[in-house]
Amino acid sequence: MKREYIDTLIVGAGVAGMNCALHLPGERQALVICKGGLKESDSFLAQGGICVLHDKGDEQSYFEDTMRAGHYENNPDTVRCMIRHSRETIDELIGYGVRFERTESGELAYTREGAHSRPRIVFHADCTGKEISSHLLYAVKKLPNVRLMPHTTMVDLLFDEGKTQCLGALVRDNRTGELTAVLAGNTVLATGGVGGLFRHSTNFRILTGDGVGVALEHGIAVDHPDYVQFHPTTLYTGRRGRSFLISESVRGEGAQLLNAAGERFVDELLPRDVVTAAIRREMRREGSKFVRLDLRTVAGGRETLLHHFPGIVERCREEGYDVLSEPIPVVPAQHYFMGGVRSDLSGRTTMPHLYAVGETCCNGVHGRNRLASNSLLEALIFARRAADDIAKGARAEGDAVIPAREYDKKQEKARHALVTKEVDREHE
Ligand code: SIN
Repeated sequence: MKREYIDTLIVGAGVAGMNCALHLPGERQALVICKGGLKESDSFLAQGGICVLHDKGDEQSYFEDTMRAGHYENNPDTVRCMIRHSRETIDELIGYGVRFERTESGELAYTREGAHSRPRIVFHADCTGKEISSHLLYAVKKLPNVRLMPHTTMVDLLFDEGKTQCLGALVRDNRTGELTAVLAGNTVLATGGVGGLFRHSTNFRILTGDGVGVALEHGIAVDHPDYVQFHPTTLYTGRRGRSFLISESVRGEGAQLLNAAGERFVDELLPRDVVTAAIRREMRREGSKFVRLDLRTVAGGRETLLHHFPGIVERCREEGYDVLSEPIPVVPAQHYFMGGVRSDLSGRTTMPHLYAVGETCCNGVHGRNRLASNSLLEALIFARRAADDIAKGARAEGDAVIPAREYDKKQEKARHALVTKEVDREHE
């Protein structure tokens, strides 16, 4: 079997994996593997947007919205940490070239989704995830110390004999079947969610909770494997395959849920789990396979729909629905996993030298039910913190433990400035 030595192995190429790679020290070699293509992450599919602390006065209200949506089962420390780092994270994304919608005066425009007491979500039309992911991916591709290996599956984790620390992972090239033991100073699980395990999900089918699975197998702590979120509104088609999301931001902007009689039956902006339960109740009561979502009531009407939600308008048209003139059939589907590999504020798991970030981890930010548009933000912030932690206690190349060293922030800043400068539009 082949052996490879690397400082950091990152398993997963969504925004969590990418942001971790981007913040590792430039002189350390990193390898990012992912099971499918580089664009087959749920980060790429995210529609609605990404939350940000609107202004200083918003902190308590944003905190309260996140906690209330999560049934107060959230970890208040991770929630506060996420909120406090949100503005700098958005600024950093803008530095990478990410374009968020602006008002006429050039300020960031904010949209709203369920359970938010005010608009505090920045967005790029209805494809915010694609906009962010593609810019981060482009920036990572420019890094000389990071190698990307798509179509490569993590088969297992590697440990020392007493299973006291993680030493990397066994990986398989999906095309040749060849196995490689990647011996890594630190390993980061960023394998995304579990939607591939469900018949109806908005997730890519290949996302089958691999990080959580391998953790469970080796006795690494996993929290709340039952905390699965169902998005209230995906387009009903009756066909197999990935469910197409109808972003919650259409309801944030005024779209209404209707039953077969054309009547509203729920406040569309209640938390996701509450709206999903109401839809299911209504479907049971009516004996129907779906309810309807009327986008014609969106504020700004046709113009907003065409400008803010072009992807949704187009996809519905392909499925035979004209959202400008009729309600569309929608049904809840699996969307997000709030449980995961137990991790702390720096992404550390219960196994030394093993980190977990993004949807794979459970650091308690989301509690029992995630507040809309907190996912990209949480993934970016805690992945960066994991990278910072790795840098501080750096250990390199397989089982060789090296002493912690002074981490040079200036050098990292210079590297990011260089990458940012090089980001152009080639990749679009
Ligand atoms: C959506 O656009 O409705 C999804 C956003 C999210 O999952 O937070």
